[in-house]
Amino acid sequence: MAVADIAIARIVAEIAEEMRSHENRGKVATYIPPLAQVPADKFGIAVILHDGTVHAAGDAEEPFSIQSISKVFALTLALGAVGDQLWHRVGREPSGSAFNSIVQLETEHGIPRNPFVNAGAIVLCDVLLGRLQPREAIGQMLRFVRELAGDDGIAIDETVARAELETGFRNMALANYMRAFGNIHGDVGMVLGTYFHFCALAMNCRQLAMAGRYLMGGGQVGGHRVVTEKRARRINALMMSCGHYDNSGDFAYRIGLPGKSGVGGGILAVAPGIASIAVWSPGLNPSGNSHLGQLALERLVQRTGWSVFEPRG
Ligand code: DON
Repeated sequence: MAVADIAIARIVAEIAEEMRSHENRGKVATYIPPLAQVPADKFGIAVILHDGTVHAAGDAEEPFSIQSISKVFALTLALGAVGDQLWHRVGREPSGSAFNSIVQLETEHGIPRNPFVNAGAIVLCDVLLGRLQPREAIGQMLRFVRELAGDDGIAIDETVARAELETGFRNMALANYMRAFGNIHGDVGMVLGTYFHFCALAMNCRQLAMAGRYLMGGGQVGGHRVVTEKRARRINALMMSCGHYDNSGDFAYRIGLPGKSGVGGGILAVAPGIASIAVWSPGLNPSGNSHLGQLALERLVQRTGWSVFEPRG
């Protein structure tokens, strides 16, 4: 279903208006102390169409902690570094478990189910550190998202990174457990330091939607190739099947687009060939995904007809 540009502008504005006054906003994450300070009444949305038109509303210019959405960019960089070798160390199946769960690692010999659970992203960091020092890997990530978004203003929130280091006992357990299985090769402290800095990237909805354009564009942005078409398709497939943890099936059912959430309340969603979308609302559902972010995306796809399961035309 083709929806005229003007209609998208109205839809985006109306969604922001509805979400602004919504009462049930979910619960803001508290296990990373600085995230607990973020007011629950925030809501932002940015939709970037294939022709580059930007539609944004609400708090779309306010930076937030992208948290696990960084796993998409980390996966892209890790695949760039080692290609399909990556899949010897990380699976491609939905976990059906919480994002920080350790239970499957024991029976699955330290191989995380997918790159989007914490354990999987910690392995991605270890892969990147096979060739780079932590400082270089963090610099590479920052350059990558800045280039994707066309915005040098993107930064890492050091307060968030430090808070994660001080409170990230589960992640330390995951990393050490995988080290015991031989699936972390480097120094656990350095791997986690890199992981926490990736999670602490601060971006606003517009920057995040800009950064996601390569996944809308078959791996290309404005004639510049970021990844191959096949790789973009596969990253999108993983976002669809694993991007919302034990809530991924429901996200696919309700929204029908590849998406990746973070406990900062952001979601990056991709309508291939049509739009790159970022929403942000800090209150989470029990699986750690933005409650209003998901609702806003549901409204957007209901009104536009965007879905990877819908015939295009
Ligand atoms: O490692 C953590 O727990 C956080 N830095 C990231 C978790 C996250 O965003 C899960 N997403 N919903």
